[in-house]
Amino acid sequence: MVESIECDLIICGSGLAGLRAVIEAAKKNLKIKIIVISKVQVMRSHSVSAEGGTAAVIFEDEGDTIESHIYDTIKGSDFLADQDVVERFCREMPNEIYQLERWGMPWSRRENGKIDQRWFAGYSFPRASYASDKVGFFEMQTLYDTCQKFDNIDFFNEWFATSIIHNRKRFMGITAIELSSGTFYEIKAKALIIATGGAGRIYSYSTYGYSSTPDGLDMAYRAGVALKDMEFVQFHPTGILPSGILITEAARGEGGYLLNNKGERFMKNYASSKMELAPRDIVCRSMITEINEGRGYKHETGVDCLKLDLRHIGDEKIKEKLGAIREISIKFSGINPAQEILDVRPVCHYMMGGIHTNIDGTTELEGVWAAGEVACNSVHGSNRLGANSTSECLVWGKITGTLAVDYIEKGVPSEPWPDFLVEAEEKRIYDGIFRGKGDVNPYEIKQELTDTMNEKAYVYRDEASLVEGLKKIRALKEQTWKHVDDKAKEYNTNFTNVMELDSMFRVIEIILIGAINRKETRGAHARTDFPKRDDTNFMHHTLAYYDPKEPIMKTCPVTVTNYKPVMRKY
Ligand code: FUM
Repeated sequence: MVESIECDLIICGSGLAGLRAVIEAAKKNLKIKIIVISKVQVMRSHSVSAEGGTAAVIFEDEGDTIESHIYDTIKGSDFLADQDVVERFCREMPNEIYQLERWGMPWSRRENGKIDQRWFAGYSFPRASYASDKVGFFEMQTLYDTCQKFDNIDFFNEWFATSIIHNRKRFMGITAIELSSGTFYEIKAKALIIATGGAGRIYSYSTYGYSSTPDGLDMAYRAGVALKDMEFVQFHPTGILPSGILITEAARGEGGYLLNNKGERFMKNYASSKMELAPRDIVCRSMITEINEGRGYKHETGVDCLKLDLRHIGDEKIKEKLGAIREISIKFSGINPAQEILDVRPVCHYMMGGIHTNIDGTTELEGVWAAGEVACNSVHGSNRLGANSTSECLVWGKITGTLAVDYIEKGVPSEPWPDFLVEAEEKRIYDGIFRGKGDVNPYEIKQELTDTMNEKAYVYRDEASLVEGLKKIRALKEQTWKHVDDKAKEYNTNFTNVMELDSMFRVIEIILIGAINRKETRGAHARTDFPKRDDTNFMHHTLAYYDPKEPIMKTCPVTVTNYKPVMRKY
């Protein structure tokens, strides 16, 4: 007998987008019953690690403009962003800064008490609000505190959502496993918001928390919803060696330099006006070019890198504005950034792609919305600007929370619950995964898989390496996925690991096929064999639909309103 629960709205994921959505939904209708389901404890969601800032125009009186935020975002996206989406985003964002303030967010302030903003890359104005360099932590704490005011929210922490139950047209519920007991549940509901974040743990050199795997993406994909623009994976220029932990872009916003082995600020050769504050795709490409042309350093682990110099910023300012990365540098690399220079290299940091949605976060399956990094509403196109991610979570958390409640209030037709689908899911998991046989160690496979992504689909790609990567991944898939040694019911992390691995295979395949098909260089997708942007043939979004054999690839148009694509210069 499957355990059964019922509610009105499920929010899958407890990061910034999930929490912002649940607050909006809970306050809009105090009578609807909401469950927030998360495979981790709320304050372990990866959003907690966001460091540097949240972008919004709040100083129009000092010369900043919404139009400038719009253009910077579109230009940063290498013109693949849907321009109507960007416009809505930039117009809605200032309110979110003040809304957070009213809920208790301790924004860093100027001496006159106004919320301060600092420089982030690719912007024409210092536009990132911040709270030292622990922005995500304080935003999460503020939102989580606010959630406590509502009696209609239940947090199901440490639950693993496995599949969406639907009737091909409309959402009906999900299946999930309570990790503490190992019990399998069906949760019937009228609406779902997916807010499970990015999946950057498909790379082994990554800024993401270990929980950032593609199970949320995969759940939507298997339910027939397209994944969009998955080939665009963002690398952040400054992952500290050896761990890959993020050194915030705010370190360069506060004045830090990138140096090659000649001691030169090499960005002058690639983006002479913005220098280290050019968008991430450009800085990462420049760094790898420096390394490839022999101007890099070798880290003691044998890895190539460049240097980040913060010494001139001074100990006092580093402690005040960059306290977290100071601590990270000391603890994880043994380097005090006020005294020595840091070893850094581009690291997997964000996915521009995600669950295909429209401007409202609405997916192709009725009753399902997606918000935050897991979604692709096309606000970032092929390259996101820093500080636009926490902002995106807030804007679409609010929008989807509102729309899901509107939908529930209108009345959702009730239909017989498809027990047969739940039984099939139980079989897929317990017969197919839990009791499967196989002699390959899934942890080793995961390592090989993520190392393959590092090697074959990094900052620069070409046909040969991508095709080789795809072959390797398919070979690994043949060997694995049949192996859970630990038969315990309670907190079986071996089992969750294999579930995560299963989703990785499908999503990685989409990334690699999308990258092979896109024979151009645009934003974060840099092909050495096709080094130019090709608006004639590739000014479109990529869509991938589920098929058990391999994804069915399609395209859809980019919305251009006011800004015709031009070549980017910084
Ligand atoms: O560098 C950072 O603090 C990252 C910010 C972001 O990805 O938005």
